[in-house]
Amino acid sequence: MQRRYHVTTFGCQMNEHDSERMKGMLESLGYREAAERADADLILFNTCSIREKADERFITHLNQAKGLKAKDPDRIIGVGGCWAQSVKDHVFQQFPFVDVAFGPGQVHRLAEFLTSDSLTAQGYFEFEGFTGHLPMKRARDFQAWMQISVGCNCACSYCIVPSTRGREVSRPFGELVAEARRLAGEGVREVTLLGQNVNSYGRDLRPRAQFSELLRELDTIDGLDRIRYTSPHPKDMREDVILAHAELGSLCPHIHLPLQAGSSRVLKAMRRTYTRERYMDRVALIREHLPDVALTTDIIVGFPGETEAEFRETLEVVEEVGYDGAFTFNFSPRRGTTAALLEDDVTNEEKVERMQRLIEVVQRRAAERAQRFVGRTLDVLVEGTSRHDADRLRGRIGHNKTVNFDGIAEPGSIVPVHITAATSQSLRGEMSLLALASR
Ligand code: SAH
Ligand code: SF4
Ligand code: F3S
Repeated sequence: MQRRYHVTTFGCQMNEHDSERMKGMLESLGYREAAERADADLILFNTCSIREKADERFITHLNQAKGLKAKDPDRIIGVGGCWAQSVKDHVFQQFPFVDVAFGPGQVHRLAEFLTSDSLTAQGYFEFEGFTGHLPMKRARDFQAWMQISVGCNCACSYCIVPSTRGREVSRPFGELVAEARRLAGEGVREVTLLGQNVNSYGRDLRPRAQFSELLRELDTIDGLDRIRYTSPHPKDMREDVILAHAELGSLCPHIHLPLQAGSSRVLKAMRRTYTRERYMDRVALIREHLPDVALTTDIIVGFPGETEAEFRETLEVVEEVGYDGAFTFNFSPRRGTTAALLEDDVTNEEKVERMQRLIEVVQRRAAERAQRFVGRTLDVLVEGTSRHDADRLRGRIGHNKTVNFDGIAEPGSIVPVHITAATSQSLRGEMSLLALASR
C-alpha cells in the first residue's frame, strides 16, 4: 500500500518553501499526501522557534502526534526546521517518540533515513545543502518560492535565526536564473525570492553578484509577471535596488523594511546596525523614487530596557512613515541570544498596553494609505474565491494588498480591477467591465 505523509508547517515563508521541497522529495520516494494527520504513516513537523509562542504551539501539535503513534506504533514522527536545529539531539530525550529530527540544511537526509533499514532514531544538524535543490510540490501552480540564500550573518541580539540557519550562503546566480526560467516554463507567473537577508545576496559568491543584478536578470524572463522578495535588511537597501523597482516592470511595488524599533538607543541594543535617522533616510530615498510603493515592516514591543519615551519614538516613526501594514511582536527571550541575558524588565501589562497603542497607529495609518487605491484600476493576480463570500473572487495587487472583488476569472489570471473601497487590511473592487466583455 502507498505510504502517506502529513506535514505541518510553522514559521516564516522560508519554512513554507522548505515544506514544499520536503513534500516534493517525499513524492519522488513514492509517498502521497494525507489530508489529515491521523491518516498519515509519516507525520512531519517543520518547526519555528522565533518566539516562545511558536514553540508552545508546536509542542501541542507534537503531543497530539504522540497520541496517534501510541495507537499505531509503526507511524514515523519527524521534526525538521529551526526548533529542531536549536535543540538538536535533546529532542530525543525530551520526546522519545520522535524517530527523526533534522535542521533546515538537512532536509535531504530525511530521504536517507526513510530509505535505510535503521530502526534507531536519527538526528541530522550540519548545514549541507539548499532545500532549493530538492524537487518541489507547490501549493499553487502559478506562484513559487525561490530560495536565493540561506542563513544570516547579522547578530541581532534578540534573534535565534543565525544559530538555527547558520552563516549566509548564496545560491549561484546562473542556477537561480535557470530555475526561474524553468518555473516560468511551467506556468509560474509570480516568484517570491527568499532569504533571511535577501538583499545581501551574492556577496559570498565568486565572482560576486548583486541582488539588483539578479532582479534585472529575472525581469527579462518571459512569463514571469511578478517578482517579490523578503526580507531585506534596511542596512543593505541600496539605491540600485530602489532604482530597480522604478525600472523593472515585473518587480512589485512593495518593500518590506523591518524597523524593529524607533529609538536609536534600542536599535543599538538590538544590534540592528542602523539608527532611526539612517532608517528614515532610506525611507526618504525610497519615497523619492517610488512615491506609490507599499512599505511594510516588523516591530518588536518591549525589548529589555525600552522606556515609555523610547516606545513613543517607535510610534513617531510609524506615524511618519505611514506603513501599508506591519507585523508587531512582543519581545520574547530566545535561548542562546544575548538579549535573553538582559532582564526582561518591561512588564507584561506594559507590553500589552504598548502593543494596543502601536496597533492603533499602524491600522489608522494603513487605512489612510489604502485610500490612495480607491478609484484606481489595478492588476490583480487571482488566487481563489473570497474567504468571507464565495460569490466573490480574491487576489492581490502588486502592492501585496488583498482585494475581494466581483468578477469572473480563473485562479492564476491577472485581471484589471476597479477599486471601490479600502480598509487597513484589504480592498474591495469590481473587475473592469472591459475585461469582462473581452472574455
Ligand atoms: N530576517 C528577517 C526576519 C526574521 S524573523 C529580518 O531580519 O527582517 C521575523 C521577525 O520576527 C523579525 O523581524 C522580528 O521583528 C521578529 N522577532 C525575531 N526575534 C524575536 C524575538 N526574540 N522576540 C520578538 N520578536 C522577534
Ligand atoms: Fe534575525 Fe537580524 Fe538576521 Fe533578521 S537580520 S534573521 S532579525 S539576526
Ligand atoms: Fe522561524 Fe526559522 Fe523562519 S525560527 S521565522 S522558521 S527562519
